[in-house]
Amino acid sequence: MEMPVGEKKMRREGKRSWDEIRNDFPVLQQNIREHPLAYLDNAASSQMPQDVIDRLVWYHSAEHSNVHRGVHTLSQRATRAYDQAREKVAQFIGAPDPKECIFTSGTTEGINLVAHGFGRAFVDEGDTILVSALEHHSNIVPWQMLCEEKGATVEVIPMNDRGELVLDDLDELLDGSVKLVCVNHVSNALGTVNPVKEIIDRAHQREIPVLVDGAQAVPHMAVDVQELGADFYAFSGHKMCGPTGIGVLWGRRKWLEKMQPYQGGGDMILSVTWEGTTYNDIPFKFEAGTPSIAAAIGLGEAIDYLDAIGMDRIARREAELLDMATQRLSAMEGVRLVGTAEDKASVISFDIDGIHPHDIGTILDNEGIAIRAGHHCAQPVMDRLGIPATARASLAFYNRELDIDQLVAGIYSVKEIFGV
Ligand code: ALA
Repeated sequence: MEMPVGEKKMRREGKRSWDEIRNDFPVLQQNIREHPLAYLDNAASSQMPQDVIDRLVWYHSAEHSNVHRGVHTLSQRATRAYDQAREKVAQFIGAPDPKECIFTSGTTEGINLVAHGFGRAFVDEGDTILVSALEHHSNIVPWQMLCEEKGATVEVIPMNDRGELVLDDLDELLDGSVKLVCVNHVSNALGTVNPVKEIIDRAHQREIPVLVDGAQAVPHMAVDVQELGADFYAFSGHKMCGPTGIGVLWGRRKWLEKMQPYQGGGDMILSVTWEGTTYNDIPFKFEAGTPSIAAAIGLGEAIDYLDAIGMDRIARREAELLDMATQRLSAMEGVRLVGTAEDKASVISFDIDGIHPHDIGTILDNEGIAIRAGHHCAQPVMDRLGIPATARASLAFYNRELDIDQLVAGIYSVKEIFGV
């Protein structure tokens, strides 16, 4: 039984306008507090197009069963769709082999998996994990936990006031004690696009592997893990028009094969006796228990959807929107952009003199504008900049100029209410 795809195929034919594309997203077609929804919280989570929603409904209506466990038809259908999703992931990020793509619950689990599997095997007392000053807590805390357990240390690649990494002392930082470098591709708090290729090349000159947190990059630009040369690359489905509860850790086979499993259970074994267990091959070794089957299949559909638009076209569109929002906000009196790196993607963090970002977020919500306010799970970034929090508008290709107009009008309302 195949999913009827007639309508979906029509939706994907030819080069469609951004207005047509926006209409694929049911959630965006609503009013919030009698204003059209301006959804500008895409760095926290993006929205799903109808294709992905339909694919999830179809899975639950016609295919649901457990994977890799049944000889019956439904299990075979579910297994085929799940395995195809892994192939789509591999193709999307240029992975040489789908087996190197492990389904996780999201970026956080991918990083924790490496902290556990790689950390246990390769990090000892006196070693260093080098992380960047721009990291999300999910690329800091697992390393602190590992280092505490092992007697190792977390060291930091510094950043400047614009929110750019400073690589002047990188060669000194990459000394013989460093076992792994961990850096995000795009900062979730400030939008900085980090020079990950340069960091990887310089670490590799010293044979130090690199983990890249790609959660904020994969949804916004074409990523090719082989071209980047990373050793591990983690990202999440729900930030790239897929469902929550699914993510991917891509890792080089040579590392994955040397790493111990993260969790024990079904599907990750070849045989179990009272004397001991033989583990399954990658990727299954790292996928204990019943996976998020529906979400993985939904992620595969999201990849088809993004591919049909084209990641380069998406990147160009978002750059246009970011430029527009940057110009409009930086021209507003009292509004200060936080994070002004030369190379930025899709995120615009700001504050307004004398107004707490949570108040900004609440007042904007009254006008139908969804942004995030707070430290964005990146407290060390805020500490470095000497601020407690920012307001953050984060864009996706389905945003329109009207959303930016609405944001600007909303900020005028905030200023008016506070009399600044
Ligand atoms: N990491 C997500 C964000 O930046 C939740 O909002």
